[in-house]
Amino acid sequence: MKALVLSGGMGLRLRPFSHSMPKQLIPVANKPVLVHVVEGLRTLGITEVGVVVGDRAEMIEGVLGDGSDLDVKITYIPQDAPHGLAHCVAIARDFLGDDDFVMYLGDQMLPDGITELARDFRTERPDAQVVVHQVADPRAFGVAEVAADGRVVRLVEKPESPVSDLAVVGVYFFTAAIHQAVAAISAGHRGELEITDAIQWLVSSGADVRARVYRGFWKDTGRVDDVLECNRELLDRLKPSVRGDVDDASELIGAVVVEEGARIVRSRVVGPAVVGAGALVEDSDVGPHTAIGRDCVLSGTDVGYTIVQDGATVRNVASVRASVIGRDASVTSAPAGGGHRLVVGDHSRIEVAA
Ligand code: TTP
Repeated sequence: MKALVLSGGMGLRLRPFSHSMPKQLIPVANKPVLVHVVEGLRTLGITEVGVVVGDRAEMIEGVLGDGSDLDVKITYIPQDAPHGLAHCVAIARDFLGDDDFVMYLGDQMLPDGITELARDFRTERPDAQVVVHQVADPRAFGVAEVAADGRVVRLVEKPESPVSDLAVVGVYFFTAAIHQAVAAISAGHRGELEITDAIQWLVSSGADVRARVYRGFWKDTGRVDDVLECNRELLDRLKPSVRGDVDDASELIGAVVVEEGARIVRSRVVGPAVVGAGALVEDSDVGPHTAIGRDCVLSGTDVGYTIVQDGATVRNVASVRASVIGRDASVTSAPAGGGHRLVVGDHSRIEVAA
């Protein structure tokens, strides 16, 4: 089985970060989402991975390279514009050939793994197998109507009155039957070739399309709040390790990772938390559920439930919570009486204490 990972798209919901990086590279527990995705595919025994890339191809190639660091072989498939998920299947045809494949949206996190679902697909080999997840309010998702034997009866995109509570997750198992379906459909009202339409085409033409329920943690990291939740979930699974320096005046509590070359000075770090390679944390309180990237500087600061990306500086700021700070960004206290001074990029969001 091959894998097709979709890593193009606009990422508008993840602005401002998606102005300067593909959203699939946002770090969760100090590792880009896309790397988590490829590692998960490798655990299924998959080694041939096609990655659909848009205009940020270079940055993605910079992180994944040829795949050898992750023990896979990566083929990049350029997409000229985000014409839809089914369009990605169409342009990957040469890479896919007639092989079975798992299509994985590059912004999805399923940290509990899909090993059993992949095994079901490999042994039963329906024409297609979608992955569904029980959600409280399915109206924002594609929703599957599933018969008692697991066959998909109908897929409906963002229904007002959902027929079930089974949201379609961005992981799909396909046989070569999908290519005929993709060729048969035309663009929907969003102007995109929708994978839901292609799967519905298979269902309508009598193909064997099944749904399998994923019961673990699932997040689409499309929005900042989702990225933070995902970061919390992954940090909760953290195994503590200290490879950097922690001075005698500092305290580490719970599961804390201090990466190589990081320094913790006169500070308290409450896990789960990770402090990236080369970072300096001094006179600060960090955590829980906090990821500090490489080469960050935190000084005189109190940071919790937050992601600080590589190279950022936070100095003398009290109580930073539920925040995501971009690469090489600087957050400092203002001089006394100076009020707030903000140099804020496009589509940023700042909430200051009144
Ligand atoms: P989406 O999250 O649906 O779309 P998006 O990236 O444009 O995000 P937003 O809605 O915030 O603007 O896409 C799901 C995944 O599929 C994501 O990893 C991007 C990828 N994708 C492609 O690679 N090509 C495409 O044509 C589309 C639509 C998405």
